[in-house]
Amino acid sequence: MKCLTSLIMPLFLCALLIGCGSLNASSDASSESTVIVAAVLDDPMTQAASVDVTNETKADKPQLFEPGVFEDPKVCSTCHRDIYNEWSKSMHANAWTDKWYQPDYLLAHQQTDGATDMLCGACHAPIAARTGLLPPADGSKFDAASRRGISCDFCHTVSGVDQMFNMGHVSEPGTVKFGPRGDGNSLYHEVKYTKIHTKADFCGSCHMVLHPATGVHIIDTWDDWKNNEYGKQGIRCQDCHMTPTPAVSKAPGRAALMGKERDNLAFHGFIGGSSYVQDAMGNTKQAELSREFLRAAAEVKLAEKVTDNGTLELTVDVHNVGAGHKIPTGTTYIRIMWLQVEVVDNTDKLVYSSGHIDEKNHVDPNAVFFRVLFRDAEGNLTGKSWQAHGIGYDRRIPAKGKDSETYRIPLPGKGDYRVTTRLMYRSMTQDALDDIFKRTGEVLPPVVSVEMAAAQTQVRF
Ligand code: HEC
Ligand code: HEC
Ligand code: HEC
Ligand code: HEC
Ligand code: HEC
Repeated sequence: MKCLTSLIMPLFLCALLIGCGSLNASSDASSESTVIVAAVLDDPMTQAASVDVTNETKADKPQLFEPGVFEDPKVCSTCHRDIYNEWSKSMHANAWTDKWYQPDYLLAHQQTDGATDMLCGACHAPIAARTGLLPPADGSKFDAASRRGISCDFCHTVSGVDQMFNMGHVSEPGTVKFGPRGDGNSLYHEVKYTKIHTKADFCGSCHMVLHPATGVHIIDTWDDWKNNEYGKQGIRCQDCHMTPTPAVSKAPGRAALMGKERDNLAFHGFIGGSSYVQDAMGNTKQAELSREFLRAAAEVKLAEKVTDNGTLELTVDVHNVGAGHKIPTGTTYIRIMWLQVEVVDNTDKLVYSSGHIDEKNHVDPNAVFFRVLFRDAEGNLTGKSWQAHGIGYDRRIPAKGKDSETYRIPLPGKGDYRVTTRLMYRSMTQDALDDIFKRTGEVLPPVVSVEMAAAQTQVRF
């Protein structure tokens, strides 16, 4: 019944009902919240996520513990040095202190009178949320372990998952550390094998965010994975994200100083698309690995034809060849992927361009964008997740799938032309950063774009 402690606000009553599995519990619910639950469950997409629950251990106790029961990651670093070093520069380690997360979280706090504090905190500061140190929202009561986001002892005292969205992990903090093998000998703690650590569902319960009141999918990575080819074949999140790069699938080593030699050790860098944030935090190695991930995900292919009246018909196919989910995934209401198309004549003069970046670091608003935006209560497009009443825009490339766009470009005269197409990525929009600056005065470095894939061709008119 973790939701009892985490979702107290009336606005989130329906999440509580769904989350605790009492789908038919209209008897103990107010009529108002029953209506909301019905509305949420009418949405077939929501149903898919709410009924599929991994049941290793049901939480029979409230998920609220004494401060200090979760150990500080520093303790683990004594023996698990390499794993600690990998993890300490991951986005998980920064999930709370993240300077790109905090402004969004604080704005949500302001606009909802604090109703979102425990929702966001459940995933971004799980130790604080489960030891009563959150609220206050500003984290002023946090102890050292809480500040370190999603850390060793949070993940390795999870004994099961009882809800596949909004963090349904069941915690059993203590001297037993749960993990994928269970055959190691440690002088410091007991080890116990748990199947859940070897399953994508372990990741999915956090990488699946539903708006508690409207049921809108804020983050849908797990649901998407579960229903695509990777999910069906059992190629897990861990298989791609707990290896240093997509190219390395086996990394031998020892998990601890006195540990056994393993032929495939789980890498704890959790690399994704955040190269910009990693660079800005000074983690250049992680940023480079992140760019490798982005480049492994996509391919661009072109088909071109010039019509008799001199119109170039350019079809750009974007293939998702490497990601186990749609690209982009995750916080796609802040992330963008887009196409840059440039046509130059044989003197290198630009005759057409789409998707360029202007002098204020903004992307051409008329570009072809692959991303998600929500619809708010008034029907306007928004990137504020807590205001989501529906999906307003969703164009992404499915796993092992493709998306096509045809450009019709009038050529200025007879001659040869060179066409360049790039698939570009930003883990955050410049608009989001400008907005943070306007609200808080905080200057974050300008967002940097990554080229995920490119293709060139020549045409003659
Ligand atoms: C986001 C959750 C998460 C965090 C944070 C995390 N781990 Fe893990 N860890 C896992 C998962 C999941 C596996 C199993 C991966 C697999 O089966 O491929 C694992 C595997 C391990 C293993 C076994 C490795 C092997 O291959 O034998 C050890 C030891 C370990 N983690 C220690 C740590 C330590 C120490 C930290 C902190 C520095 C840490 N973990 C942080 C989720 C996490
Ligand atoms: C005194 C050294 C020491 C300390 C401190 C320590 N561990 Fe370990 N741990 C080990 C050894 C040794 C193993 C066995 C590794 C092997 O043989 O693969 C191990 C194994 C593990 C495993 C693997 C479980 C599995 O499935 O096999 C996890 C998870 C783990 N430790 C988590 C932690 C966490 C979390 C902390 C900090 C709270 C921590 N350890 C602190 C020595 C230590
Ligand atoms: C307790 C919730 C939680 C669990 C469990 C969890 N994650 Fe995460 N994960 C997050 C949050 C929150 C972030 C974003 C942190 C930030 O950017 O501030 C994140 C970020 C990431 C990123 C970084 C993406 C990027 O943009 O670079 C990857 C990759 C990732 N997680 C993979 C995994 C995998 C694989 C697992 C399972 C082994 C897992 N996560 C388990 C909450 C979780
Ligand atoms: C077949 C390999 C593969 C599998 C399986 C996979 N991913 Fe990814 N993932 C990638 C690649 C490649 C990228 C980089 C492209 C990108 O950023 O979209 C990525 C990006 C991400 C990101 C960064 C968001 C983004 O779009 O920039 C997150 C978060 C993430 N994955 C989480 C997960 C989770 C959670 C699972 C399991 C449910 C998972 N991934 C399964 C390969 C994989
Ligand atoms: C169920 C878990 C969960 C909840 C609840 C949650 N998040 Fe997250 N959040 C994530 C995951 C997972 C990621 C990483 C996704 C990715 O890399 O694309 C993330 C990433 C983010 C990021 C991007 C950070 C960066 O550096 O790029 C922001 C901002 C954010 N969340 C804000 C919020 C806010 C505000 C709330 C509450 C209204 C919230 N989140 C609630 C799981 C959660």
